[in-house]
Amino acid sequence: MHWYLASVSMLLLLACSSDDTKQSMYNHSRINIGHRGASAYCPEHTLASYRLALEMKADFVEPDLQVTRDGVLICMHDVTLERTTNVKTLFPNRSREVKGRQRWVVSDFTLAEIKELDAGSWFDAKYAGEKVPTLQEMVDVVRGRAGIIPETKSPDEYEKSGLAMEKLLMEFLRKNKLDKPGADPKTPVVIQSFSPMSLRKLKKEQHCQLPLLLLYDRVGADTFSAEQLKKLRLEVEGVGPNKAIVLQNPDLVKACHDAGLSVTIYTCRSKNTGKFSDVKSEMKHFLDLGVDAIFTDNPDQFPR
Ligand code: G3P
Ligand code: CA
Repeated sequence: MHWYLASVSMLLLLACSSDDTKQSMYNHSRINIGHRGASAYCPEHTLASYRLALEMKADFVEPDLQVTRDGVLICMHDVTLERTTNVKTLFPNRSREVKGRQRWVVSDFTLAEIKELDAGSWFDAKYAGEKVPTLQEMVDVVRGRAGIIPETKSPDEYEKSGLAMEKLLMEFLRKNKLDKPGADPKTPVVIQSFSPMSLRKLKKEQHCQLPLLLLYDRVGADTFSAEQLKKLRLEVEGVGPNKAIVLQNPDLVKACHDAGLSVTIYTCRSKNTGKFSDVKSEMKHFLDLGVDAIFTDNPDQFPR
């Protein structure tokens, strides 16, 4: 009898661990990630955009991260302020030349200065007065209603300026008691980056236990070979290829799953659906291929 129970327990354990390997990053399949909030409809990375993503039932909401001169994490895609704010008008003399062009670099401005900016009018006059949110303000809106998937943007640039983004992020997550898997079941946290070094720093130097996602904008011939994926699985829990990479090589989804890595693609948006008639059909195609999660500007169009 003991032998029988032991065998059944072992089989159950094996079945669970195998499933855990496949779904280790997310708590369920078909994850809808509000990319920069609901950025098809609202100015990206504003509280209005995050709130709309929540109303549209996104499972996760994405903040890209930049760092102010006084070391505060803010939500913004670009390393410079001019595309999504009125910085040129408010601070005409605060640009500097970067790669041959005048730029208003985020880390040249304090949080107080950045809070003076309008981050909504560039998108639509009706969003005039929207501010650049801090990560804290973003988390205060999203917490308890969805997961959060912050991206460390340009971490090497910040490191050079003495602003270690990984350290700031982990301090922030610890302070908010979101630094451990399952710490707040209603607010899972996954950290993403295009920089393998940034993810390595999070794990090795900051002792990050949260799931990590490595993004790819291009791949080599053997990026998704079984051998490479096995090595990669020692460092991260998931991969995040550009959707075009998966379109060209749909077999990579199974290869990643076999290696225990989740697959999250970016970015499905109504503005650019390629060969698909609309963004919903595009997302359905990728979900049918087995991808685990999709970054989308249109979380309301995610196939349920
Ligand atoms: O983080 C996933 C996706 O957002 C990567 O592209 O440039 O929009 O941050 P980007
Ligand atoms: Ca991003």
